[in-house]
Amino acid sequence: MAREIFKTRLGFLLIAAGCAVGIGNVWRFPYIVGQYGGAYFVLIYLFFLLALGIPLLTVELAIGRASRSSMAYCYEKLEQPKALWHHNKWWQFSGNYFLMAFYVVVAGWMLYYFVSFASSSIPQGITRDEAASHFGALLGSPSTMLICVLATVIFSFSIVALGVIRGIERFTKPLMVILILLLIFMALRSFTLDGFVKGVKFYLEPNFSRLEGRFGEAIFAAMGQAFFTLSVGFGAIAIFGSYMSERHKILNEAIFIAMLDTIVAFLSGFVIFPACYTYGIEPDAGPNLLFMTMTVVFSNMALGGFWGTLFFLFMLIAAVSTMIAVFESSIAGTMELFKISRVKSVLINFVVITSMCLLPLFGFNLLSDVHIISSDSSFLEFFDFLVSNNIMPLGSVVFVLFVCSKTGMTFKRYIDECNVGKGFNMSYKLFFYYKYVLTAIVLVVYVVGIYQLFFAK
Ligand code: PHE
Repeated sequence: MAREIFKTRLGFLLIAAGCAVGIGNVWRFPYIVGQYGGAYFVLIYLFFLLALGIPLLTVELAIGRASRSSMAYCYEKLEQPKALWHHNKWWQFSGNYFLMAFYVVVAGWMLYYFVSFASSSIPQGITRDEAASHFGALLGSPSTMLICVLATVIFSFSIVALGVIRGIERFTKPLMVILILLLIFMALRSFTLDGFVKGVKFYLEPNFSRLEGRFGEAIFAAMGQAFFTLSVGFGAIAIFGSYMSERHKILNEAIFIAMLDTIVAFLSGFVIFPACYTYGIEPDAGPNLLFMTMTVVFSNMALGGFWGTLFFLFMLIAAVSTMIAVFESSIAGTMELFKISRVKSVLINFVVITSMCLLPLFGFNLLSDVHIISSDSSFLEFFDFLVSNNIMPLGSVVFVLFVCSKTGMTFKRYIDECNVGKGFNMSYKLFFYYKYVLTAIVLVVYVVGIYQLFFAK
């Protein structure tokens, strides 16, 4: 069967952006900005976005478009005879699975809170302790979590089962439009809240004291966030390169995706923090921000049921659009690898992903005594660490070395691929920067980050 190519440019852009825009933007970005010194952190983050993020997006898109293949054969199609690059595909491809194994659990929580607000089952005026015990009860109930996870997973797989144009393009496009409208609506409303100035101050005011003594940690976090949010390192973006038309140059598309991704991340903080200050609630500068703090905020707000429903719907769409995209990456890979139909591949991947997600899911209840990276970390954090701190940076370095290598794609072919179509040209002169500077930045930050995590404490 001929490979499907997206019908419209907007379809491609919104789907690639749908892959990029996810939990990383709407949850992770705001809380780590708050944690590490507001505006200073945003600057470090923007540096990584420009220096690494956009180049890495172009690398994946070019590999996808030039090979017209998923991770299954993209290396084989582009490398020189007898080269060994393709052995990397196995561990990189596994990133899709490890990521989804914990991602779907968080998406399940979002669905749970969305339904709770929509059905008014969260009482008005709850306190922080009550919100914590509410979330604790959810974590303690594997069956509730499993039902929520299955609902989001089955929904996303059903869309992917319909195919690239009939399924993904048809559904993700409107989903992303709804997501953007919801965000604009909620952000505009934030301006009208009493706590707006205080909230934005907490979020963005340059605050050196929050960076003091943890500058290295902040740099590692900023780089990790740039990788995570742009979805680079294991072919989740490359797969959409493989369905993209040749009408536009790759740099244009990469800039658009990174911009939309950053705007969504940035505005999410504008929705979250002013609401906290308006209702006199100190925002947690950590992962609890969403499911505890925000629940207290909505339950104390006038028309909180309405705003809570919209907010968690927004979160849910962000998560589901990413799930659809990453499932496509693993499903297309499995189809090509085993030469099986889309439906068969969907079934196999459904079984693999739902089995794998049981570990992070049970990690909060049945397996809560198992700690891997540190004495209090959960399974979910372990999978996150594996993907975000390891597979993504190392996978990105391998992709970059691959396009630079004479035995790989070769830099000339990479630049030529990027420059097909209308738009901004990329230059062959970037070779030195890619091969030495970009890879060195990633590797140094990676090694220092791992060292700090395990040995510097
Ligand atoms: N970018 C996604 C997010 O921000 C996560 C992701 C990472 C998706 C890697 C695909 C690949 O939530």
